[in-house]
Amino acid sequence: MSLTPFIAGLPKAELHLHIEGSLEPEQMFEFARRNRVALPFASVEEIKAAYDFSNLQDFLDIYYAGADVLRTEDDFREMALAYFRRAAADSVRHAEIFFDPQTHTDRGIPFQVVADGLLAGMDEAERELGVTSKLILCFLRHLDENAAFATLKAAEPWLDRIEGVGLDSSEVGHPPSKFERVFTAAGALGLKRVAHAGEEGPPEYVWEALDLLKIDRMDHGNRSLEDPTLIRRLAAEGMTLTVCPLSNHKLCVIDDLTKHPVPEMLKQGLHVTLNSDDPPISAAMTGTMSHAEHAGVTREQLVQIAKNSFEGSFLPDEDKARHI
Ligand code: ADE
Ligand code: ZN
Repeated sequence: MSLTPFIAGLPKAELHLHIEGSLEPEQMFEFARRNRVALPFASVEEIKAAYDFSNLQDFLDIYYAGADVLRTEDDFREMALAYFRRAAADSVRHAEIFFDPQTHTDRGIPFQVVADGLLAGMDEAERELGVTSKLILCFLRHLDENAAFATLKAAEPWLDRIEGVGLDSSEVGHPPSKFERVFTAAGALGLKRVAHAGEEGPPEYVWEALDLLKIDRMDHGNRSLEDPTLIRRLAAEGMTLTVCPLSNHKLCVIDDLTKHPVPEMLKQGLHVTLNSDDPPISAAMTGTMSHAEHAGVTREQLVQIAKNSFEGSFLPDEDKARHI
């Protein structure tokens, strides 16, 4: 029997979601029309047909092109609210969402437009749907350290509403060590630290994320499985991994969903959560848990994973306890 309805009803937290990556093709066209932005695609069908990637970079090229339709505070607010409505329908009770300010400031959209728009959508979602959320500012790792420092500076007026910093975009060739100093500065400001590592990059990048960036949570981490010492360290520290099986499949990090390493990660005692990354490309609404059964995850493990998602969140302990 399919576990899909059971999973859809399971209260959960989403810990790995790029809000720009939540933009559905239909919404992309609507924003393009009203903002008079020319898209490199003629139709929704053409975008969907382009969701045929060989690697992460193939996807990122489309992701950054699509983000160009976002121009006003209202665009950011509507995009966020649309995501939260889909998430709430999938029993997501809390979401910690990534945003990529440099994707917008580099094309002349002020940080304020992005941050205030997203925060307005998050506040509306809490009032309308009861879904709580937190914002994580990601530095684009294909850009340099100075650009990351400038972004952290631009974020200063909003730091009371930004939970943490993250690291995303093209992984290979851009090791965590490149951002050690800016992560140290972010930590000194009281921000939480997370980083994508071991999605396409080697286990050494996971070690760097732990030792140099001093992360509180690991995004992806798949390739940690290549290094038994690293697995033991992650398990001993109870480090939460925000794993995204469907995204891994679509971006060719794995070639077959039934061979996803989630069961092995659980067997090795890792604190795994299942997440959606960029829902439209994953062909999933939210919390890719709905496809976890194809990766051989059992009903009992799914309940544990949902519990892990609240435990691994940055909610205060009393709120975690309320959800678990
Ligand atoms: N930005 C959006 N999705 C991403 C992913 N899967 N990996 C790295 N950066 C991203
Ligand atoms: Zn991601």
